[in-house]
Amino acid sequence: MYRTHNCGELTKKDIGKNVMLSGWIKKIRNLGSLLFLDIRDYFGVTQLIFTKKLLNNGFFLGKEFLIKIEGKVVERVSKNYKIPTGEIEILVYKIKILNKSIEIPFSIENNTDGNEEIRMKYRYLDIRRNTIKNNLINRHKLVLEIRNFLSKKGYLEIETPVLVNYTPEGARNFLVPSRKNSGKFYSLHQSPQMFKQLLMIGGIDKYFQIVKCFRDEDSRSDRQIEFTQIDCEMAFVNVNDVLFFFERFIKHILKKIKKINYRQNFTRISYYDAIKIYGTDSPDIRFGMKFIVLNEIVKKNNINFLIEKELTIGIKIKKSDWNIYNTDKKIDIIFSKIKKSNFLWIQYLPNKTFLYSKNCFFNKKILKIFIKYFKSRPGDILVISYGKKINTRTLLSEIRLIIIKNYHFKKNYKKFNPVWITDFPLLSWEEKYKKFKSVHHPFTSPKKEDIHLLNNHPEKTRSNSYDLIINGTEIGSGSIRINNIKTQKKIFQYLGYSSKEIQYKFGFFIKAFEFGTPPHGGIAFGLDRLINILEEDNNIKNFIAFPKNNEGRDLMTNTPSSLVKNIL
Ligand code: AMO
Repeated sequence: MYRTHNCGELTKKDIGKNVMLSGWIKKIRNLGSLLFLDIRDYFGVTQLIFTKKLLNNGFFLGKEFLIKIEGKVVERVSKNYKIPTGEIEILVYKIKILNKSIEIPFSIENNTDGNEEIRMKYRYLDIRRNTIKNNLINRHKLVLEIRNFLSKKGYLEIETPVLVNYTPEGARNFLVPSRKNSGKFYSLHQSPQMFKQLLMIGGIDKYFQIVKCFRDEDSRSDRQIEFTQIDCEMAFVNVNDVLFFFERFIKHILKKIKKINYRQNFTRISYYDAIKIYGTDSPDIRFGMKFIVLNEIVKKNNINFLIEKELTIGIKIKKSDWNIYNTDKKIDIIFSKIKKSNFLWIQYLPNKTFLYSKNCFFNKKILKIFIKYFKSRPGDILVISYGKKINTRTLLSEIRLIIIKNYHFKKNYKKFNPVWITDFPLLSWEEKYKKFKSVHHPFTSPKKEDIHLLNNHPEKTRSNSYDLIINGTEIGSGSIRINNIKTQKKIFQYLGYSSKEIQYKFGFFIKAFEFGTPPHGGIAFGLDRLINILEEDNNIKNFIAFPKNNEGRDLMTNTPSSLVKNIL
Protein backbone atom coordinates (compact mmCIF):
# COMPACT_ATOMS: atom_id res chain seq x y z
CA MET A 1 0.00 0.00 0.00
CA TYR A 2 1.34 3.41 -0.91
CA ARG A 3 -1.20 5.83 0.47
CA THR A 4 -4.41 6.28 2.41
CA HIS A 5 -4.81 9.83 1.09
CA ASN A 6 -3.27 11.97 -1.60
CA CYS A 7 -1.17 15.09 -0.95
CA GLY A 8 -3.96 17.52 -1.76
CA GLU A 9 -6.85 16.33 0.35
CA LEU A 10 -6.15 16.43 4.08
CA THR A 11 -7.74 19.34 5.93
CA LYS A 12 -8.69 20.41 9.45
CA LYS A 13 -11.45 17.82 9.58
CA ASP A 14 -8.80 15.06 9.38
CA ILE A 15 -6.88 16.20 12.48
CA GLY A 16 -6.05 13.22 14.69
CA LYS A 17 -6.13 10.64 11.87
CA ASN A 18 -3.24 8.29 11.18
CA VAL A 19 -2.46 8.50 7.45
CA MET A 20 -0.06 7.19 4.85
CA LEU A 21 1.10 9.50 2.00
CA SER A 22 3.48 9.14 -0.92
CA GLY A 23 4.99 12.07 -2.77
CA TRP A 24 8.04 13.84 -4.17
CA ILE A 25 9.98 16.14 -1.86
CA LYS A 26 9.36 19.71 -2.97
CA LYS A 27 11.00 21.63 -0.14
CA ILE A 28 13.21 20.86 2.87
CA ARG A 29 13.60 23.21 5.82
CA ASN A 30 15.95 22.31 8.62
CA LEU A 31 15.01 23.85 11.99
CA GLY A 32 17.54 22.29 14.34
CA SER A 33 15.86 19.35 15.96
CA LEU A 34 12.92 19.44 13.57
CA LEU A 35 12.79 18.98 9.83
CA PHE A 36 9.95 20.41 7.73
CA LEU A 37 9.28 18.84 4.36
CA ASP A 38 6.73 19.63 1.67
CA ILE A 39 5.77 16.64 -0.45
CA ARG A 40 3.96 16.90 -3.74
CA ASP A 41 1.89 14.57 -5.88
CA TYR A 42 -0.57 15.16 -8.76
CA PHE A 43 -3.20 16.43 -6.31
CA GLY A 44 -1.31 18.93 -4.19
CA VAL A 45 1.24 19.58 -1.48
CA THR A 46 1.29 18.53 2.18
CA GLN A 47 3.66 19.69 4.90
CA LEU A 48 5.41 17.05 7.01
CA ILE A 49 7.33 17.37 10.32
CA PHE A 50 10.08 14.99 11.28
CA THR A 51 12.08 14.79 14.42
CA LYS A 52 15.76 14.47 13.62
CA LYS A 53 15.77 11.20 15.59
CA LEU A 54 13.65 9.53 12.93
CA LEU A 55 16.17 10.37 10.28
CA ASN A 56 19.24 9.47 12.28
CA ASN A 57 19.84 6.10 10.67
CA GLY A 58 21.99 7.53 7.89
CA PHE A 59 18.98 8.78 6.03
CA PHE A 60 19.73 11.39 3.40
CA LEU A 61 16.79 13.17 1.78
CA GLY A 62 17.00 15.42 -1.25
CA LYS A 63 14.64 17.33 -3.51
CA GLU A 64 12.43 15.12 -5.70
CA PHE A 65 13.16 11.99 -3.68
CA LEU A 66 9.97 9.93 -3.72
CA ILE A 67 9.03 8.99 -0.15
CA LYS A 68 6.29 7.14 1.62
CA ILE A 69 5.42 8.28 5.13
CA GLU A 70 3.08 7.31 7.92
CA GLY A 71 2.07 9.88 10.50
CA LYS A 72 -0.63 11.72 12.37
CA VAL A 73 -2.54 14.76 11.06
CA VAL A 74 -2.03 17.72 13.41
CA GLU A 75 -3.04 21.39 13.29
CA ARG A 76 -0.40 23.75 11.93
CA VAL A 77 0.83 26.63 14.05
CA SER A 78 1.52 29.00 11.15
CA LYS A 79 -1.24 28.37 8.66
CA ASN A 80 -1.13 28.82 4.88
CA TYR A 81 -4.62 29.65 3.67
CA LYS A 82 -3.52 29.70 0.02
CA ILE A 83 -3.54 25.91 -0.30
CA PRO A 84 -6.28 23.42 0.71
CA THR A 85 -3.95 21.51 3.06
CA GLY A 86 -2.51 24.69 4.59
CA GLU A 87 -4.12 24.34 8.01
CA ILE A 88 -2.63 20.94 8.83
CA GLU A 89 0.65 19.07 8.78
CA ILE A 90 1.67 15.45 9.33
CA LEU A 91 3.72 14.46 12.35
CA VAL A 92 5.70 11.65 10.75
CA TYR A 93 6.57 8.49 12.64
CA LYS A 94 7.65 6.25 9.75
CA ILE A 95 9.41 7.04 6.50
CA LYS A 96 10.54 4.97 3.53
CA ILE A 97 12.39 6.19 0.46
CA LEU A 98 10.60 4.69 -2.53
CA ASN A 99 13.06 6.13 -5.06
CA LYS A 100 15.91 8.60 -4.98
CA SER A 101 16.42 11.49 -7.36
CA ILE A 102 19.62 12.93 -8.76
CA GLU A 103 20.05 16.70 -8.60
CA ILE A 104 17.27 18.43 -10.53
CA PRO A 105 18.28 20.61 -13.52
CA PHE A 106 15.77 23.39 -12.77
CA SER A 107 13.42 24.32 -9.96
CA ILE A 108 10.05 22.62 -10.09
CA GLU A 109 8.05 25.69 -9.19
CA ASN A 110 5.47 27.83 -11.01
CA ASN A 111 8.14 30.48 -11.52
CA THR A 112 10.92 28.15 -12.52
CA ASP A 113 14.51 29.18 -13.21
CA GLY A 114 14.66 26.71 -16.13
CA ASN A 115 14.78 28.11 -19.65
CA GLU A 116 12.71 26.55 -22.42
CA GLU A 117 15.52 24.39 -23.72
CA ILE A 118 16.28 22.70 -20.41
CA ARG A 119 12.58 22.29 -19.63
CA MET A 120 12.04 20.58 -23.00
CA LYS A 121 14.98 18.25 -22.38
CA TYR A 122 13.49 17.18 -19.04
CA ARG A 123 9.88 17.65 -20.01
CA TYR A 124 8.68 15.00 -17.52
CA LEU A 125 10.03 17.22 -14.72
CA ASP A 126 8.40 20.25 -16.33
CA ILE A 127 5.09 18.38 -16.21
CA ARG A 128 5.52 18.05 -12.43
CA ARG A 129 5.15 21.84 -12.32
CA ASN A 130 1.60 23.04 -11.63
CA THR A 131 1.68 25.37 -14.63
CA ILE A 132 2.16 22.65 -17.22
CA LYS A 133 0.13 20.04 -15.33
CA ASN A 134 -2.86 22.39 -15.11
CA ASN A 135 -2.53 23.22 -18.80
CA LEU A 136 -2.81 19.52 -19.60
CA ILE A 137 -5.80 19.18 -17.27
CA ASN A 138 -7.50 22.15 -18.95
CA ARG A 139 -6.79 20.71 -22.38
CA HIS A 140 -8.38 17.43 -21.29
CA LYS A 141 -11.48 19.26 -19.99
CA LEU A 142 -11.80 21.13 -23.28
CA VAL A 143 -11.52 17.94 -25.35
CA LEU A 144 -14.14 16.27 -23.17
CA GLU A 145 -16.51 19.21 -23.60
CA ILE A 146 -15.98 19.22 -27.36
CA ARG A 147 -16.58 15.46 -27.70
CA ASN A 148 -19.75 15.67 -25.62
CA PHE A 149 -21.12 18.69 -27.41
CA LEU A 150 -20.53 17.42 -30.93
CA SER A 151 -21.71 13.89 -30.11
CA LYS A 152 -24.93 15.23 -28.60
CA LYS A 153 -25.52 17.25 -31.77
CA GLY A 154 -25.31 14.13 -33.92
CA TYR A 155 -21.66 14.28 -35.00
CA LEU A 156 -19.99 10.91 -35.35
CA GLU A 157 -16.30 10.65 -34.47
CA ILE A 158 -14.58 8.65 -37.20
CA GLU A 159 -10.88 7.98 -37.57
CA THR A 160 -9.35 8.47 -41.01
CA PRO A 161 -5.94 7.22 -42.18
CA VAL A 162 -2.78 9.03 -41.22
CA LEU A 163 -0.62 7.27 -43.83
CA VAL A 164 -1.99 8.67 -47.06
CA ASN A 165 -0.94 9.78 -50.50
CA TYR A 166 0.62 13.22 -50.84
CA THR A 167 -2.09 15.93 -50.91
CA PRO A 168 -1.46 19.55 -51.73
CA GLU A 169 -2.65 21.60 -48.74
CA GLY A 170 -0.20 24.43 -48.55
CA ALA A 171 2.58 23.05 -46.35
CA ARG A 172 5.17 20.37 -47.07
CA ASN A 173 4.39 16.75 -46.30
CA PHE A 174 6.32 14.28 -44.18
CA LEU A 175 7.15 11.19 -46.20
CA VAL A 176 7.34 7.62 -44.91
CA PRO A 177 9.00 4.91 -47.03
CA SER A 178 7.00 1.73 -47.54
CA ARG A 179 8.89 -1.47 -46.64
CA LYS A 180 6.60 -3.76 -48.61
CA ASN A 181 6.42 -1.54 -51.68
CA SER A 182 9.96 -0.71 -52.55
CA GLY A 183 10.49 2.81 -53.89
CA LYS A 184 6.99 3.91 -52.81
CA PHE A 185 6.09 6.38 -50.09
CA TYR A 186 3.26 7.21 -47.78
CA SER A 187 2.75 10.77 -46.73
CA LEU A 188 1.60 11.73 -43.22
CA HIS A 189 -1.67 13.58 -43.67
CA GLN A 190 -1.75 17.34 -43.30
CA SER A 191 -5.43 17.06 -42.42
CA PRO A 192 -8.21 14.55 -43.09
CA GLN A 193 -9.65 16.86 -45.77
CA MET A 194 -10.34 14.44 -48.62
CA PHE A 195 -11.35 11.58 -46.33
CA LYS A 196 -13.92 13.68 -44.51
CA GLN A 197 -15.38 14.67 -47.86
CA LEU A 198 -15.48 11.01 -48.87
CA LEU A 199 -17.37 10.29 -45.64
CA MET A 200 -20.02 12.74 -46.81
CA ILE A 201 -20.18 10.92 -50.14
CA GLY A 202 -20.45 7.76 -48.03
CA GLY A 203 -23.67 9.12 -46.58
CA ILE A 204 -22.37 10.15 -43.13
CA ASP A 205 -24.33 13.25 -42.20
CA LYS A 206 -22.10 14.90 -39.60
CA TYR A 207 -18.51 13.95 -38.83
CA PHE A 208 -15.86 15.08 -36.41
CA GLN A 209 -12.46 13.89 -35.36
CA ILE A 210 -9.93 15.12 -32.83
CA VAL A 211 -6.94 14.31 -34.90
CA LYS A 212 -3.19 14.77 -35.06
CA CYS A 213 -2.01 16.47 -38.28
CA PHE A 214 1.52 16.73 -39.63
CA ARG A 215 3.03 19.58 -41.61
CA ASP A 216 6.66 20.09 -42.40
CA GLU A 217 6.76 23.83 -41.79
CA ASP A 218 8.62 26.25 -39.54
CA SER A 219 7.44 26.13 -35.94
CA ARG A 220 6.47 29.31 -34.13
CA SER A 221 4.63 30.19 -30.95
CA ASP A 222 1.35 29.20 -32.66
CA ARG A 223 2.66 26.49 -34.98
CA GLN A 224 3.95 22.96 -34.46
CA ILE A 225 4.87 20.39 -37.08
CA GLU A 226 2.66 17.93 -35.22
CA PHE A 227 -0.56 19.50 -33.96
CA THR A 228 -4.18 18.63 -33.27
CA GLN A 229 -7.31 19.62 -35.16
CA ILE A 230 -10.95 19.43 -34.22
CA ASP A 231 -11.98 18.46 -37.71
CA CYS A 232 -15.65 18.69 -38.70
CA GLU A 233 -17.79 18.17 -41.79
CA MET A 234 -21.53 18.28 -42.46
CA ALA A 235 -23.65 17.27 -45.45
CA PHE A 236 -26.42 19.46 -46.94
CA VAL A 237 -25.17 22.76 -45.54
CA ASN A 238 -24.37 26.24 -46.77
CA VAL A 239 -22.00 28.85 -45.33
CA ASN A 240 -24.61 30.22 -42.94
CA ASP A 241 -25.43 26.79 -41.52
CA VAL A 242 -21.78 26.16 -40.71
CA LEU A 243 -21.14 29.60 -39.22
CA PHE A 244 -24.35 29.47 -37.20
CA PHE A 245 -23.61 26.03 -35.73
CA PHE A 246 -19.95 26.62 -34.94
CA GLU A 247 -20.71 29.97 -33.40
CA ARG A 248 -22.91 28.07 -30.94
CA PHE A 249 -20.07 25.59 -30.48
CA ILE A 250 -17.58 28.33 -29.52
CA LYS A 251 -20.13 30.04 -27.27
CA HIS A 252 -20.76 26.73 -25.52
CA ILE A 253 -17.02 26.30 -24.93
CA LEU A 254 -16.69 29.86 -23.60
CA LYS A 255 -19.53 29.17 -21.21
CA LYS A 256 -18.34 25.77 -20.00
CA ILE A 257 -14.61 26.41 -19.90
CA LYS A 258 -14.39 30.12 -19.12
CA LYS A 259 -17.83 30.75 -17.53
CA ILE A 260 -18.38 33.51 -20.09
CA ASN A 261 -21.88 34.08 -21.41
CA TYR A 262 -21.14 35.43 -24.88
CA ARG A 263 -24.49 36.67 -26.14
CA GLN A 264 -23.83 38.82 -29.21
CA ASN A 265 -23.47 37.41 -32.70
CA PHE A 266 -19.87 37.10 -33.78
CA THR A 267 -18.79 39.92 -36.07
CA ARG A 268 -18.51 38.89 -39.72
CA ILE A 269 -16.13 40.72 -42.02
CA SER A 270 -15.33 39.83 -45.59
CA TYR A 271 -11.70 39.17 -46.41
CA TYR A 272 -11.49 42.30 -48.56
CA ASP A 273 -12.95 44.50 -45.82
CA ALA A 274 -10.64 42.99 -43.21
CA ILE A 275 -7.66 43.93 -45.35
CA LYS A 276 -9.01 47.45 -45.86
CA ILE A 277 -9.95 48.02 -42.22
CA TYR A 278 -7.17 46.18 -40.38
CA GLY A 279 -4.55 45.39 -43.02
CA THR A 280 -4.70 41.66 -42.16
CA ASP A 281 -7.03 38.69 -42.55
CA SER A 282 -6.60 37.79 -38.88
CA PRO A 283 -7.37 41.03 -37.05
CA ASP A 284 -7.55 41.46 -33.31
CA ILE A 285 -10.79 43.46 -33.23
CA ARG A 286 -10.86 44.02 -29.47
CA PHE A 287 -9.07 47.32 -29.59
CA GLY A 288 -10.66 49.48 -32.29
CA MET A 289 -8.06 51.47 -34.21
CA LYS A 290 -9.68 50.84 -37.58
CA PHE A 291 -7.81 52.24 -40.55
CA ILE A 292 -9.06 55.59 -41.79
CA VAL A 293 -8.49 56.30 -45.48
CA LEU A 294 -7.02 59.76 -45.98
CA ASN A 295 -6.70 59.94 -49.77
CA GLU A 296 -9.66 62.26 -50.13
CA ILE A 297 -8.57 64.73 -47.46
CA VAL A 298 -5.03 64.65 -48.84
CA LYS A 299 -6.38 65.48 -52.30
CA LYS A 300 -8.79 68.15 -51.09
CA ASN A 301 -6.04 69.98 -49.21
CA ASN A 302 -3.33 69.27 -51.72
CA ILE A 303 -1.05 67.88 -48.97
CA ASN A 304 2.35 67.92 -50.60
CA PHE A 305 4.20 64.60 -50.74
CA LEU A 306 1.17 62.45 -49.84
CA ILE A 307 -0.78 63.49 -52.89
CA GLU A 308 1.14 61.22 -55.24
CA LYS A 309 0.82 58.14 -53.00
CA GLU A 310 -1.49 55.32 -54.03
CA LEU A 311 -2.85 55.05 -50.48
CA THR A 312 -2.64 57.12 -47.30
CA ILE A 313 -4.24 55.66 -44.18
CA GLY A 314 -4.10 56.35 -40.47
CA ILE A 315 -5.09 55.14 -37.03
CA LYS A 316 -5.86 57.04 -33.87
CA ILE A 317 -4.30 55.84 -30.62
CA LYS A 318 -6.60 57.27 -27.97
CA LYS A 319 -4.88 58.67 -24.90
CA SER A 320 -7.51 57.12 -22.66
CA ASP A 321 -6.79 53.58 -23.87
CA TRP A 322 -3.05 53.47 -24.19
CA ASN A 323 -0.16 53.71 -21.82
CA ILE A 324 1.94 56.02 -23.94
CA TYR A 325 3.73 59.05 -22.57
CA ASN A 326 3.77 62.54 -23.94
CA THR A 327 7.38 62.81 -24.92
CA ASP A 328 8.57 62.48 -28.45
CA LYS A 329 11.56 60.36 -27.37
CA LYS A 330 9.29 57.74 -25.80
CA ILE A 331 7.00 57.71 -28.81
CA ASP A 332 10.00 57.35 -31.11
CA ILE A 333 11.17 54.36 -29.06
CA ILE A 334 7.84 52.62 -29.65
CA PHE A 335 8.12 53.06 -33.37
CA SER A 336 11.84 52.32 -33.53
CA LYS A 337 10.87 48.62 -33.59
CA ILE A 338 9.50 49.17 -37.06
CA LYS A 339 12.06 48.79 -39.75
CA LYS A 340 10.11 50.51 -42.55
CA SER A 341 9.95 54.26 -42.90
CA ASN A 342 6.75 55.01 -44.83
CA PHE A 343 4.90 56.35 -41.82
CA LEU A 344 4.79 59.34 -39.51
CA TRP A 345 3.13 60.19 -36.24
CA ILE A 346 1.55 63.29 -34.75
CA GLN A 347 0.50 63.94 -31.16
CA TYR A 348 -1.89 66.70 -30.24
CA LEU A 349 -1.03 68.04 -26.78
CA PRO A 350 -3.33 69.55 -24.13
CA ASN A 351 -1.72 72.98 -24.64
CA LYS A 352 -2.79 72.78 -28.30
CA THR A 353 0.73 72.35 -29.59
CA PHE A 354 1.99 69.28 -31.42
CA LEU A 355 4.65 66.63 -31.16
CA TYR A 356 5.54 64.81 -34.33
CA SER A 357 8.04 62.42 -35.85
CA LYS A 358 11.23 63.74 -37.44
CA ASN A 359 9.97 62.98 -40.94
CA CYS A 360 6.76 65.01 -40.47
CA PHE A 361 7.13 68.37 -42.24
CA PHE A 362 3.51 69.50 -42.21
CA ASN A 363 2.74 73.06 -41.24
CA LYS A 364 0.36 73.83 -38.37
CA LYS A 365 -2.60 74.23 -40.71
CA ILE A 366 -2.19 70.71 -42.13
CA LEU A 367 -1.60 69.25 -38.68
CA LYS A 368 -4.87 70.80 -37.56
CA ILE A 369 -6.67 69.35 -40.58
CA PHE A 370 -5.61 65.85 -39.56
CA ILE A 371 -6.45 66.42 -35.89
CA LYS A 372 -9.93 67.56 -36.89
CA TYR A 373 -10.44 64.74 -39.36
CA PHE A 374 -9.59 62.10 -36.75
CA LYS A 375 -11.65 63.92 -34.10
CA SER A 376 -8.56 63.79 -31.90
CA ARG A 377 -8.59 64.83 -28.29
CA PRO A 378 -5.52 66.16 -26.49
CA GLY A 379 -3.02 63.36 -25.88
CA ASP A 380 -4.18 61.18 -28.79
CA ILE A 381 -1.56 60.00 -31.25
CA LEU A 382 -2.17 59.67 -34.99
CA VAL A 383 -0.08 57.30 -37.05
CA ILE A 384 -0.20 57.76 -40.81
CA SER A 385 1.25 55.37 -43.36
CA TYR A 386 1.52 55.91 -47.10
CA GLY A 387 2.70 54.27 -50.30
CA LYS A 388 1.60 51.26 -52.37
CA LYS A 389 -1.66 49.75 -51.17
CA ILE A 390 -0.47 46.37 -49.88
CA ASN A 391 2.70 47.65 -48.18
CA THR A 392 0.90 50.58 -46.59
CA ARG A 393 -1.77 48.37 -45.07
CA THR A 394 0.72 45.75 -43.89
CA LEU A 395 2.86 48.42 -42.26
CA LEU A 396 -0.02 50.05 -40.39
CA SER A 397 -1.23 46.62 -39.31
CA GLU A 398 2.23 45.91 -37.89
CA ILE A 399 2.19 49.24 -36.03
CA ARG A 400 -1.31 48.53 -34.71
CA LEU A 401 -0.17 45.15 -33.39
CA ILE A 402 2.87 46.60 -31.62
CA ILE A 403 0.64 49.08 -29.84
CA ILE A 404 -1.86 46.34 -28.90
CA LYS A 405 0.80 43.96 -27.62
CA ASN A 406 2.79 46.48 -25.60
CA TYR A 407 0.83 49.51 -24.60
CA HIS A 408 -2.78 48.70 -23.87
CA PHE A 409 -4.02 49.66 -20.42
CA LYS A 410 -5.81 46.31 -20.30
CA LYS A 411 -9.02 47.76 -18.96
CA ASN A 412 -12.55 47.74 -20.36
CA TYR A 413 -11.82 45.31 -23.10
CA LYS A 414 -13.39 42.00 -23.97
CA LYS A 415 -11.25 39.01 -23.08
CA PHE A 416 -12.37 37.16 -26.18
CA ASN A 417 -13.68 38.72 -29.34
CA PRO A 418 -14.23 36.18 -32.11
CA VAL A 419 -14.69 37.34 -35.67
CA TRP A 420 -15.56 35.40 -38.83
CA ILE A 421 -13.57 36.42 -41.88
CA THR A 422 -15.48 35.31 -44.97
CA ASP A 423 -15.30 35.27 -48.76
CA PHE A 424 -11.58 34.78 -49.25
CA PRO A 425 -10.36 34.83 -52.84
CA LEU A 426 -10.45 31.35 -54.35
CA LEU A 427 -7.03 31.54 -55.99
CA SER A 428 -3.99 33.76 -55.83
CA TRP A 429 -1.40 34.13 -58.57
CA GLU A 430 2.14 32.97 -57.78
CA GLU A 431 4.46 34.90 -60.01
CA LYS A 432 7.47 32.76 -59.06
CA TYR A 433 5.84 29.54 -60.30
CA LYS A 434 3.63 31.18 -62.94
CA LYS A 435 0.54 29.41 -61.70
CA PHE A 436 -2.33 29.83 -59.27
CA LYS A 437 -2.38 28.69 -55.66
CA SER A 438 -5.48 27.93 -53.58
CA VAL A 439 -5.97 30.52 -50.89
CA HIS A 440 -7.64 27.86 -48.68
CA HIS A 441 -7.30 24.49 -50.40
CA PRO A 442 -8.23 23.04 -53.78
CA PHE A 443 -11.57 21.66 -52.57
CA THR A 444 -13.06 25.06 -51.70
CA SER A 445 -16.04 26.08 -53.83
CA PRO A 446 -16.38 29.39 -55.65
CA LYS A 447 -19.20 31.72 -54.62
CA LYS A 448 -22.26 31.31 -56.80
CA GLU A 449 -22.29 35.04 -57.60
CA ASP A 450 -18.69 34.83 -58.85
CA ILE A 451 -18.82 31.61 -60.82
CA HIS A 452 -18.95 33.57 -64.08
CA LEU A 453 -15.52 34.99 -63.23
CA LEU A 454 -13.88 31.60 -62.92
CA ASN A 455 -13.07 31.26 -66.63
CA ASN A 456 -11.67 34.69 -67.38
CA HIS A 457 -10.80 36.25 -64.00
CA PRO A 458 -9.97 33.39 -61.65
CA GLU A 459 -8.07 35.75 -59.34
CA LYS A 460 -11.23 37.82 -58.82
CA THR A 461 -13.39 34.83 -57.90
CA ARG A 462 -14.36 34.77 -54.26
CA SER A 463 -14.90 31.49 -52.41
CA ASN A 464 -17.38 30.06 -49.92
CA SER A 465 -14.75 30.11 -47.21
CA TYR A 466 -14.38 31.37 -43.68
CA ASP A 467 -11.83 31.62 -40.89
CA LEU A 468 -12.57 32.07 -37.22
CA ILE A 469 -10.21 34.56 -35.64
CA ILE A 470 -10.08 35.04 -31.88
CA ASN A 471 -7.97 37.89 -30.52
CA GLY A 472 -5.91 38.05 -33.70
CA THR A 473 -5.18 34.31 -33.97
CA GLU A 474 -6.62 32.04 -36.63
CA ILE A 475 -8.39 29.39 -34.58
CA GLY A 476 -10.39 27.71 -37.34
CA SER A 477 -10.74 27.58 -41.07
CA GLY A 478 -13.15 25.94 -43.48
CA SER A 479 -15.35 26.15 -46.52
CA ILE A 480 -18.24 24.76 -48.51
CA ARG A 481 -16.67 22.24 -50.85
CA ILE A 482 -16.86 21.78 -54.56
CA ASN A 483 -19.26 18.95 -55.29
CA ASN A 484 -19.12 18.98 -59.04
CA ILE A 485 -16.49 17.21 -61.13
CA LYS A 486 -16.10 19.90 -63.76
CA THR A 487 -15.34 22.67 -61.27
CA GLN A 488 -13.01 20.43 -59.27
CA LYS A 489 -11.06 19.54 -62.41
CA LYS A 490 -10.86 23.19 -63.43
CA ILE A 491 -9.38 24.15 -60.05
CA PHE A 492 -6.78 21.39 -60.34
CA GLN A 493 -5.88 22.73 -63.79
CA TYR A 494 -5.45 26.25 -62.43
CA LEU A 495 -3.13 24.81 -59.80
CA GLY A 496 -0.95 23.53 -62.61
CA TYR A 497 -1.88 19.82 -62.69
CA SER A 498 -2.00 18.13 -66.07
CA SER A 499 -4.93 15.79 -66.84
CA LYS A 500 -2.58 12.87 -66.26
CA GLU A 501 -1.50 14.19 -62.86
CA ILE A 502 -5.10 14.84 -61.87
CA GLN A 503 -5.91 11.25 -62.72
CA TYR A 504 -2.84 9.88 -60.91
CA LYS A 505 -3.20 11.97 -57.75
CA PHE A 506 -6.92 12.53 -57.45
CA GLY A 507 -8.47 9.89 -59.72
CA PHE A 508 -10.16 8.12 -56.79
CA PHE A 509 -11.57 11.41 -55.51
CA ILE A 510 -12.93 12.56 -58.86
CA LYS A 511 -14.39 9.08 -59.34
CA ALA A 512 -16.27 9.37 -56.04
CA PHE A 513 -17.86 12.60 -57.32
CA GLU A 514 -19.68 10.52 -59.94
CA PHE A 515 -21.82 8.76 -57.34
CA GLY A 516 -24.19 11.52 -56.28
CA THR A 517 -21.98 13.76 -54.12
CA PRO A 518 -24.07 15.73 -51.61
CA PRO A 519 -23.47 19.43 -51.01
CA HIS A 520 -21.18 19.57 -47.99
CA GLY A 521 -18.87 21.78 -46.02
CA GLY A 522 -17.01 22.01 -42.77
CA ILE A 523 -14.30 23.51 -40.70
CA ALA A 524 -11.24 22.52 -38.67
CA PHE A 525 -10.17 24.23 -35.47
CA GLY A 526 -6.66 24.12 -34.09
CA LEU A 527 -7.05 22.52 -30.65
CA ASP A 528 -3.64 23.64 -29.41
CA ARG A 529 -4.36 27.21 -30.45
CA LEU A 530 -7.86 27.16 -28.99
CA ILE A 531 -6.75 26.07 -25.51
CA ASN A 532 -3.83 28.49 -25.68
CA ILE A 533 -6.16 31.42 -26.39
CA LEU A 534 -8.73 30.33 -23.80
CA GLU A 535 -6.02 30.18 -21.14
CA GLU A 536 -4.65 33.56 -22.33
CA ASP A 537 -1.18 32.17 -22.91
CA ASN A 538 1.06 32.98 -25.85
CA ASN A 539 2.73 29.69 -26.72
CA ILE A 540 0.97 26.50 -27.78
CA LYS A 541 3.95 24.45 -26.55
CA ASN A 542 2.70 25.04 -23.02
CA PHE A 543 -0.39 22.95 -23.80
CA ILE A 544 1.30 20.06 -25.57
CA ALA A 545 2.71 17.33 -23.31
CA PHE A 546 5.79 16.67 -25.46
CA PRO A 547 6.18 19.50 -28.00
CA LYS A 548 8.88 20.03 -30.61
CA ASN A 549 11.09 23.10 -30.50
CA ASN A 550 11.14 25.78 -33.21
CA GLU A 551 13.54 23.70 -35.31
CA GLY A 552 11.10 20.79 -35.17
CA ARG A 553 13.25 18.85 -32.71
CA ASP A 554 12.25 16.96 -29.60
CA LEU A 555 15.19 17.75 -27.32
CA MET A 556 14.29 15.03 -24.85
CA THR A 557 14.30 12.06 -27.23
CA ASN A 558 16.70 13.70 -29.69
CA THR A 559 14.24 13.38 -32.56
CA PRO A 560 14.78 13.47 -35.50
CA SER A 561 18.00 11.45 -35.59
CA SER A 562 20.16 9.58 -38.09
CA LEU A 563 19.20 6.05 -39.01
CA VAL A 564 22.61 4.58 -38.16
CA LYS A 565 22.28 0.95 -37.05
CA ASN A 566 25.29 0.41 -34.82
CA ILE A 567 25.87 3.92 -33.67
CA LEU A 568 28.02 2.78 -30.74
P1 AMO B 1 -6.13 24.77 -42.05
O1 AMO B 1 -4.90 24.34 -42.75
O2 AMO B 1 -6.43 26.23 -42.08
O3 AMO B 1 -7.40 24.03 -42.67
O4 AMO B 1 -6.07 24.27 -40.55
C1 AMO B 1 -7.16 24.44 -39.67
C2 AMO B 1 -6.71 25.02 -38.33
O5 AMO B 1 -5.67 24.22 -37.78
C3 AMO B 1 -4.77 25.05 -37.03
N1 AMO B 1 -3.40 24.86 -37.56
C4 AMO B 1 -2.30 24.70 -36.79
N2 AMO B 1 -2.14 24.69 -35.47
C5 AMO B 1 -0.89 24.49 -34.98
N3 AMO B 1 0.19 24.28 -35.76
C6 AMO B 1 0.07 24.27 -37.11
N4 AMO B 1 1.14 24.04 -37.86
C7 AMO B 1 -1.22 24.50 -37.68
N5 AMO B 1 -1.70 24.55 -38.95
C8 AMO B 1 -3.01 24.77 -38.85
C9 AMO B 1 -5.23 26.48 -37.21
C10 AMO B 1 -6.09 26.40 -38.44
O6 AMO B 1 -7.09 27.39 -38.47
N6 AMO B 1 -8.64 20.89 -43.97
C11 AMO B 1 -8.72 22.29 -43.68
C12 AMO B 1 -9.94 22.64 -42.86
C13 AMO B 1 -11.24 22.60 -43.64
O7 AMO B 1 -11.29 23.20 -44.73
O8 AMO B 1 -12.22 22.05 -43.11
C14 AMO B 1 -7.47 22.69 -42.90
O9 AMO B 1 -6.68 21.88 -42.47
O10 AMO B 1 -6.01 26.83 -36.08
